Amino acid sequence: MGRGSYGCSVVGSLLLLLLLVCLGSAVAQKASTWKTLSGGPPLVIAKGGFSGLFPDSSDFAYGSAPGAALWCDVQLTKDGAGICLPDINMNNCTGISSFDPKGIKTYNVNGVPVKGWFPMDYKSADLLQQVFLKQPILSRTDKFDGLAIVPVEDVLSKYKTPAVWLNVQHDSFYSQFNLNMRSYILSVSKQFAVDYISSPEVNFLNSLLGRVSKKTKLVFRFLDEQTVEPSTNQTYGSLLKNLTFIKTIASGVLVPKHYILPVTKDNYLQPHTSVVDDAHKAGLEIYAADFANDFSFSYNYSYDPLAEYLSFIDNGAFSIDGVLTDFPITSSEAIGCFTNLNNSKIDHGKPLVISHNGASGDYPDCTDLAYQKAVADGADVIDCPVQVTKDGIPICMSSIDLGDVTTVANSQFSSQTSVIKDIKASPGVYSFNLTWDDISKNLKPKISNPMSTYKLYRNPRNMNAGNFMRLSDFLDFAKGKDLSGIMISIEHAAFMAQNLGFGVVDAVTKALDDSGYSKQTTQQVMIQSTNSSVLVKFKQQTKYNLVYMIEENVRDAAPSSIADIKKFADAVSVNTMSVYPVTQKFLTNQTNSLVQSLQSAGLPVYVYVLMNEFVSQPWDFFSDATQQINAYVKRPGGGVDGVITDFPATAHRYKLNSCMNMGNNTPGFMFPAQPGGLIENMPGPVQPPAIAPLPPLTESDVAEPPLPAVNSNAKAPASSRAAAIRVRADVSVLVTFMLCLCASLMI
Ligand SMILES: *[C@@H]1O[C@H](CO)[C@@H](O)[C@H](O)[C@H]1NC(C)=O
Ligand SMILES: *[C@@H]1O[C@H](CO)[C@@H](O)[C@H](O)[C@H]1NC(C)=O
Ligand SMILES: *[C@@H]1O[C@H](CO)[C@@H](O)[C@H](O)[C@H]1NC(C)=O
Ligand SMILES: *[C@@H]1O[C@H](CO)[C@@H](O)[C@H](O)[C@H]1NC(C)=O
Ligand SMILES: *[C@@H]1O[C@H](CO)[C@@H](O)[C@H](O)[C@H]1NC(C)=O
Ligand SMILES: *[C@@H]1O[C@H](CO)[C@@H](O)[C@H](O)[C@H]1NC(C)=O
Ligand SMILES: *[C@@H]1O[C@H](CO)[C@@H](O)[C@H](O)[C@H]1NC(C)=O
Ligand SMILES: *[C@@H]1O[C@H](CO)[C@@H](O)[C@H](O)[C@H]1NC(C)=O
Repeated sequence: MGRGSYGCSVVGSLLLLLLLVCLGSAVAQKASTWKTLSGGPPLVIAKGGFSGLFPDSSDFAYGSAPGAALWCDVQLTKDGAGICLPDINMNNCTGISSFDPKGIKTYNVNGVPVKGWFPMDYKSADLLQQVFLKQPILSRTDKFDGLAIVPVEDVLSKYKTPAVWLNVQHDSFYSQFNLNMRSYILSVSKQFAVDYISSPEVNFLNSLLGRVSKKTKLVFRFLDEQTVEPSTNQTYGSLLKNLTFIKTIASGVLVPKHYILPVTKDNYLQPHTSVVDDAHKAGLEIYAADFANDFSFSYNYSYDPLAEYLSFIDNGAFSIDGVLTDFPITSSEAIGCFTNLNNSKIDHGKPLVISHNGASGDYPDCTDLAYQKAVADGADVIDCPVQVTKDGIPICMSSIDLGDVTTVANSQFSSQTSVIKDIKASPGVYSFNLTWDDISKNLKPKISNPMSTYKLYRNPRNMNAGNFMRLSDFLDFAKGKDLSGIMISIEHAAFMAQNLGFGVVDAVTKALDDSGYSKQTTQQVMIQSTNSSVLVKFKQQTKYNLVYMIEENVRDAAPSSIADIKKFADAVSVNTMSVYPVTQKFLTNQTNSLVQSLQSAGLPVYVYVLMNEFVSQPWDFFSDATQQINAYVKRPGGGVDGVITDFPATAHRYKLNSCMNMGNNTPGFMFPAQPGGLIENMPGPVQPPAIAPLPPLTESDVAEPPLPAVNSNAKAPASSRAAAIRVRADVSVLVTFMLCLCASLMI
């Protein structure tokens, strides 16, 4: 086998990294009482270790979850040794098929024929030395494939952990091969402290009663309701109705999470069942399984895995006693820092939570519903990207091409496409080709789906929800709300002036005057543009807070460019890549000094755009939007001053977390990710190629010619349109006159 385990030095340095990441347990500093059976904090159980990132049951995975109980799915080899493997079928989680291509067999496993490779067909020496582990879930990174299989005894002795949990998924199956799971478990529990033993088989747990240490908790594992439990012939669904019986064989139960919070077929949460209460009343602890940051999410959680944990441990009604998860770090955060928060607290302190097209993760961009949700979710600043209609009305719309964010493609206007080279090469139906009536009466908004290439879609029930907003509607809405400010973004100003005869800077200034924004001081008005000429013009005629958005990926900004920016901007927005460069979805170890350079010049820095969907984030943030925010805010050498996000709720909740200001006592799982940490721990051949350092921002990137004057001859909007109609009227009068003249001459 080319790729067995790759040695101790790798493991050593990985542990170093993860010590930083995971030091300290979730138990941490919670004084509050929990609604768990014991009143203590829920247990985090790391399924096969940190299996969301590393292959399930690998040394890396077990070494990366120090605050969590370590879960091992016990399997037996031909010679009766115990190994940890997530599935009795080794096909997906190991490289067994290349070790023994002809070894495929079909066995009847509890009444179901299963085709694959099975541990009891192989000697432990072969499995431990020749067969490597791999990531069975295709949406996860395979860069750490190739690690060795781990013996059960190692999990029991090698790692610093609050508890070891052995799960015996199959006992009756192994017994057909003269392998005695019970003797194996009893023998290891004589040598080592085993904290938990779980099994979905009644007879197996029964056979351990009174034979294991009193400190070992026996847990009955429920499988899907319709599945038949092999020793009683009852379905798990019917066993659930007899918890008094379960209590005679176990001190706790482990249930699929949908037993507690059921979801509909189309993935919406239903009200909770009484299972937690029932279990607690029967004196049973209750643990829930199937937690992961990257799949099996209900839309109700808005792709925020931390929100899901909170709904099981901090919902006001009950708390489960533990979570079985592939991503222990996120459960540790939830338990350690995010319970009992008062979500209505808003202080508008750093980091500013700036919405991106409103709460566009939940509702179509820039609709009334997206803005209402952003405010309700605790955004400090809501934003309006301004476009203009054919009749000269400034509107909030995230794209100048209506095809991106409305139902125009299925409307009577679908054929009104044009190719406008100044904007983009492909045809579009542009906001300035339709009147406000056309848009607001005939089109519906369309939710944005930036991760659709990964088949991740935002809440389908909200797909076309809400109403479009004019800039004036937006200002009316925002006024009087508890916001630190509003942000108005302007692009294509030169195009609008020259080709549409529309002066967007003047129009926005006028709208702000009309709404009273220019005369109030409670909310800050921020104007954002990627084009310095727009900000220069605002600087000349207003006192608004001007935000320069750097589009380029840059590592730093040349002093001369910063001096230029200072002339027209009060703050800067930068993209995620310019703060943390990424290669193949991993953070590189390059340290960009852009944030420090801008901040030392007195310019606050906002980072754009953060999203909850895990595919939008580098692996180093563990598929956890909260980790990503934390990395930007707590970045050593300069945290950002604000985040621009599709999901303001997640960012606002981050600001409330109880571990925010703990200094040296901050638990390890709230340390910012270490750039390059994961790459360094990959075997050389699979490391992504190093990328060239990004260029710095230069003066020439910043400098722009001044905005052109508004071309009053250009056909279109507002006051210039009225004039155009008058001219046309004059022409037709003239034509009529001439025709009559000719006619009379001919007579
Ligand atoms: C295992 O892999 C096969 C294809 O190789 C796939 O069809 C199957 O769904 C996988 N099973 C799991 C549990 O991932
Ligand atoms: C369970 O049912 C199967 C047939 O459905 C039967 O063969 C078996 O004896 C039953 N076992 C028990 C313990 O009742
Ligand atoms: C609960 O299960 C036990 C053992 O199988 C059985 O004796 C008892 O009748 C069951 N109780 C109910 C209410 O089903
Ligand atoms: C989940 O979302 C759906 C759709 O918005 C809603 O009807 C349902 O009440 C929500 N479920 C819970 C438990 O809040
Ligand atoms: C939550 O915060 C709000 C706003 O600061 C406050 O009015 C309310 O009393 C707080 N609620 C609790 C339970 O502390
Ligand atoms: C859209 O507006 C632009 C600018 O006024 C114009 O050049 C173009 O022809 C219009 N397209 C359509 C389809 O009306
Ligand atoms: C960064 O990573 C590259 C390999 O990707 C390595 O050669 C270099 O030494 C690392 N630099 C630092 C400062 O760790
Ligand atoms: C910025 O605006 C100027 C007009 O002020 C225009 O000439 C230039 O092309 C714009 N730059 C970009 C990158 O769009």
